[in-house]
Amino acid sequence: MNILVTGGTGYIGSHTCVELINAGHDVVIFDNLSNSKESVLDRIEKIAGKRPKFYVADMRDLDSIRKVFSENSIDAVVHFAGLKAVGESVAKPVEYYKNNVGGTLNLLTAMTEFGVKKIVFSSSATVYGDPAIIPITEDCPLGTTTNPYGETKKMLERILTDFQKANPDNYVILLRYFNPIGAHESGLIGDEPNGIPNNLMPYILQVVVGKLPYLRVFGNDYDTPDGTGVRDYIHVVDLAKGHVAAMKKFSDEPGVYIYNLGTGIGYSVLDIVHAFEKANNINIPYQIVERRPGDIATNYSDPSKAFRELSWKTEFDLETMCKDSYRFAKNALSGQ
Ligand code: NAD
Ligand code: WQD
Repeated sequence: MNILVTGGTGYIGSHTCVELINAGHDVVIFDNLSNSKESVLDRIEKIAGKRPKFYVADMRDLDSIRKVFSENSIDAVVHFAGLKAVGESVAKPVEYYKNNVGGTLNLLTAMTEFGVKKIVFSSSATVYGDPAIIPITEDCPLGTTTNPYGETKKMLERILTDFQKANPDNYVILLRYFNPIGAHESGLIGDEPNGIPNNLMPYILQVVVGKLPYLRVFGNDYDTPDGTGVRDYIHVVDLAKGHVAAMKKFSDEPGVYIYNLGTGIGYSVLDIVHAFEKANNINIPYQIVERRPGDIATNYSDPSKAFRELSWKTEFDLETMCKDSYRFAKNALSGQ
């Protein structure tokens, strides 16, 4: 298939482009480079042996999306493009709604105009809020989001579901990611957030390459085995392969399909710290500080639906996630 990947130079998008190319698909990337670099294309080419066609374009501009569809015969869209920083979304809600919601509405408009009927969307476990069930199944009721970023994901799930209802010959696949970490084993692509990272693994990486003095562990008084927050960390390459697997549904009946993409295993913050130290033989200085507002104690998936229906399950363990994260950090971050 010829696949348009929005946000394809970003962290998850770039790994997914590699796996799509490995699976024999042709890839066209559309990205405004607001949170990624054009040099990622060289790296995708180096890993996968094929260079995706690339458009620097902003999904808030409908005409630039139309141009991509008019110049390429697109069979399906994998839609990653979006802003994703939780704290920034609290400070800049209008920007987040305009970009994530407005941009996706433009994308759906262009898809309709050009008769493209298949979309895979990057949703998030954040839509479950403080989850009613652990491990979280796809049937778990959606929760209250605590920030505009999370709300854009919830709104977009609803918009895409309504869109499919109105266009019953369309396919909408909603993938709810848990906590992606790790990097491609080549060390060429990975997570490169701008500024001081919010997420745990990028923060740890900045500490171990000497850019930040120590990790702040946000609270050790949660109702979890060691008191620190528990999450479902998934290797980004497993996550990327989940997108290729999800596209199997395009040969099934049209409809809305929802999958959790996680490992089903919960690790605490201190589990991650100790696993990283052991895997890479390095010390991570840390201090326990106050809880971070909006955080929940425990969040991990039941990924069995994706296994049953897509034959997808994760392959990489925590040690590999830690090793691959560190390899990328040494390559990408230490020289900056
Ligand atoms: P990322 O920031 O690395 O990638 C997103 C890409 O979208 C970037 O390259 C950015 O330049 C591009 N982009 C943003 N706004 C755009 C616009 N208006 N037009 C064109 N391109 C635009 O983020 P990521 O971690 O790869 O996340 C990809 C998707 O997965 C996002 O939708 C994110 O919300 C979702 N997600 C991420 C996580 C996570 O923890 N990383 C978890 C759940 C869901
Ligand atoms: C993980 C754990 C923190 C940083 C967020 C978004 C969510 C999703 C993924 C996209 C928590 C602790 C963290 C630090 C710490 N994104 N921590 N010190 O909070 O599960 O999810 O990113 O959809 O929407 O909310 O991920 O990596 O920020 O935190 O102690 O410096 O690490 O308290 O327990 P989170 P995270």
